[in-house]
Amino acid sequence: MLKKNKTLGEFIIENQSSFQYSSGELSKLINALRLAAKVVNHEVNKAGLVDILGDAGDTNIQGESQQKLDVLANEKFIQTLKNREIVCGIASEEEDDFISINSNDKNHQNKYVVLIDPLDGSSNIDVNVSVGTIFSIYRRVTPVGTPVEMKDFLQKGSEQVAAGYIVYGTSTMLVYSTGDGVNGFTLNPALGTFYLSHPNMQFPEDGKIYSVNEGNYVHFLQGVKDYIKYCQKEEGDRPYTSRYIGSLVSDFHRNMIKGGIYMYPKSSIAENGKLRLLYECNPMAYLAEQANGIASDGFGRILEIEPTELHQRVPFFCGSKNMVEKLHEFMAKNA
Ligand code: AHG
Ligand code: MN
Ligand code: MN
Repeated sequence: MLKKNKTLGEFIIENQSSFQYSSGELSKLINALRLAAKVVNHEVNKAGLVDILGDAGDTNIQGESQQKLDVLANEKFIQTLKNREIVCGIASEEEDDFISINSNDKNHQNKYVVLIDPLDGSSNIDVNVSVGTIFSIYRRVTPVGTPVEMKDFLQKGSEQVAAGYIVYGTSTMLVYSTGDGVNGFTLNPALGTFYLSHPNMQFPEDGKIYSVNEGNYVHFLQGVKDYIKYCQKEEGDRPYTSRYIGSLVSDFHRNMIKGGIYMYPKSSIAENGKLRLLYECNPMAYLAEQANGIASDGFGRILEIEPTELHQRVPFFCGSKNMVEKLHEFMAKNA
């Protein structure tokens, strides 16, 4: 039985041995992400002061130039992981290429790579709405002590050993899984400590929330259009209600707690939708499956997709089991 007033630090240590590849390395890595999350949280909280302190591109009072928050978040996560020498490679939504760490050091024994969306929902920053960070962790497939290669990053989502997100919301939470369920930790800002607040998170099997950018409705496939009409129809427990924040992390987080479906379909204006397979869809799909939910591209499991490039996009449907299954019925009918 999980005790509720546990800190994230204690939780990581206690659960280390239940991890199938336990060596302490993954624990150190999660610890580093926890630290970077606190730093980025601090920056996100200051975002409202930008009008007073200066905009991105301006020079601040100390003579330092102000950075856009997504660039800053990217730097903070990369720096923290690099400095602690706990991964052999990083790929980020904000970088064109993957980063190899200590690639010429044969003694470098680190075996994990991290893929990250440092700031998700970044357009919400300017209007004081929740944003997030998403991370995904794999074991490298090339031998330790050699430079990482593209194939270390282009692994199927089902190969993930851990994934999670941070939501910088009305409170800041870190939610993650190492393959043994999903647990959520809330930051006490006064102490700078994350506490286990949401043990064993699960999507309700059914939900009443659908989350999609309906501004794109006319461009969607018929299957998606029909499903949206189904959600809106007055019948049984319907109509469902619509909620769309426009940051995947926040929309996912709400739907996991309340029950719902998130959709970013492909359309006649976005051939593969918008979301990135490696930085957004795979980690969220891993969490969804760990939390009794489903994540698909409308037809098959996200986690089974063979990635072909770092910044690849895929259609994304994710959430409560019965809702995603219903969506599949409409998609199949119109395929
Ligand atoms: P990012 O800020 O990392 O580019 O991601 C934004 C993503 C996702 O978080 C969100 O759900 C989606 O873009 C919103 O897109 P639309 O504005 O097209 O609805
Ligand atoms: Mn994003
Ligand atoms: Mn981003």
